[in-house]
Amino acid sequence: MALIKALTAAMRQGRASSRATVARVGSLVRLRGLSSGVATMSGRLATDSTETLGASNPRAWGSELTQDPSSLQYYASDKVEAELYAWCEKALEQSTNPDHVACDRADLPFTCEMVEHLEQAYLMDGPGLALLQPMPSLAKNIHAMRFAALAMSSCLGTPLVQNAAGDKSILVFDRDAGRKMVDGQRYHQSHEGGSMHTDNVNVPETWEYMLLTCLQPAAEGGESILLSSSTVEAYLAKHDPEALETLKEDFLWELRGFSERFYRAPILFHGTDGYPCFRWLREYLESAHARAGEPLTDRQISALNALTNATLEESLQLRYNMAKGEILFANDMSLLHGRTTFYDRQQASTEYDFGTQANRLLQRNWVKTKTSQYANVNVSRYAYYDLAE
Ligand SMILES: [Fe+2]
Repeated sequence: MALIKALTAAMRQGRASSRATVARVGSLVRLRGLSSGVATMSGRLATDSTETLGASNPRAWGSELTQDPSSLQYYASDKVEAELYAWCEKALEQSTNPDHVACDRADLPFTCEMVEHLEQAYLMDGPGLALLQPMPSLAKNIHAMRFAALAMSSCLGTPLVQNAAGDKSILVFDRDAGRKMVDGQRYHQSHEGGSMHTDNVNVPETWEYMLLTCLQPAAEGGESILLSSSTVEAYLAKHDPEALETLKEDFLWELRGFSERFYRAPILFHGTDGYPCFRWLREYLESAHARAGEPLTDRQISALNALTNATLEESLQLRYNMAKGEILFANDMSLLHGRTTFYDRQQASTEYDFGTQANRLLQRNWVKTKTSQYANVNVSRYAYYDLAE
């Protein structure tokens, strides 16, 4: 109830008048069949998870959001949209790559004010995520949306480099329909679904936020799946407490996309604010242990299975089809996320075809906050293990 009240108040600061316009853009919320029994279970799980925090834990959401995620939708004001549109138009005169244009927060006062509100009301003091609805003037131009997402990332903190090439605005699309993650493909370059994960997996230092911008939905599939880390922890505490303890031990991880080396860190730890944080992408972890010649024990495999099964528990999953121009703001360690397998209109290629813009395309930005009160909130003492040889 506290969560719903907080979100209702937060939404009042958005622009109600634009909702009819945005509704026409066609964001489709798909609700999973949830029986009343499951709803009761989810509510109890949320309560269980908050007991150790001593107060209501807004990030431990269950059926109240999985059944109706509309309270997560936020509408930018006319002032923000006009400011962003003007800034993107000017930036596009310099380049079509947002990473090649500097962004000064002083040029975006209304945008930064909105983003700071989203950070506090949704990402940290709320459920850990928000869905910024498409801004009509920007949503029709893929390149403008890319700039807008990076500009908003810059308002949140410092956009991070995500690969050895130094890219900060990563394009998520299928490069090769025949190559899978078990073959070394990175998640954002494949069309596979089903693997729930956090993005905080291939660098040892933790960071706070992920922005996922839908530039073009898939022909079929590609539905986003989101779970609360607090609720998943509570689920495991109830159903498999031994597995929960094992997940707090160190595992080997790859620096996939950056180097061939490894680092050690646990799958589950707690941030400086006391909330649970997961570091989880099973394919990457298993690949690291196999490559390093350090086989997982039966007890460890059992714990991985328990977590996998928890994340596949449909009663805990929020499923959502993002519309073109919609942006997911996520506190990466308060959530686990994934997608359903998707199918494109055209054959997969290593270069995205901006001429046709036919295939599914998302942009991913990672942000580490340095200036807000939430800086380093997700960092644990485990995050700085030395790299293994
Ligand atoms: Fe991801």
